[in-house]
Amino acid sequence: MAIERTFSMIKPDATRRNLTGKITAKLEEAGLRVVASKRVWMSRAQAEGFYAVHKERPFFGELVETMTAGPTVVQVLEGENAILKNREVMGATNPANAAEGTIRKEFAVSIGENSVHGSDAPETAAQEIAYWFSGVELVG
Ligand code: CMP
Repeated sequence: MAIERTFSMIKPDATRRNLTGKITAKLEEAGLRVVASKRVWMSRAQAEGFYAVHKERPFFGELVETMTAGPTVVQVLEGENAILKNREVMGATNPANAAEGTIRKEFAVSIGENSVHGSDAPETAAQEIAYWFSGVELVG
């Protein structure tokens, strides 16, 4: 399996509860390496741009409000099969459906405040990494 990179975001509900370290530890324990990381309080325009794929969804307004309510930590993770591995460690979008031991099972509050975001495919990983990071900020 090739080494991949994926995009990960620790959401405002989690930074508010001081969970950045605990969430990052779970990612690292799964074999993912943090090759870029920064704390960002995103603007409304940045949140709308990042989640543009969801702009017709009924929850879009609430999503933008939630994502601009406090700081996030945006990260690039590297490892074997990193995209799928990150999604496994995160657990299901709705924490009510998340498996034991996953980040969302342990920490998420609700589907809207679900603590983390992770890319779902190689194309979105590349787009989401490029949205927040320049090449020189990725240090493997
Ligand atoms: P995320 O992986 O960041 O991608 C889009 C986000 O929209 C999702 O996690 C949820 O936090 C949020 N969201 C809010 N309501 C819903 C919903 N009904 N279905 C899917 N995602 C939702």
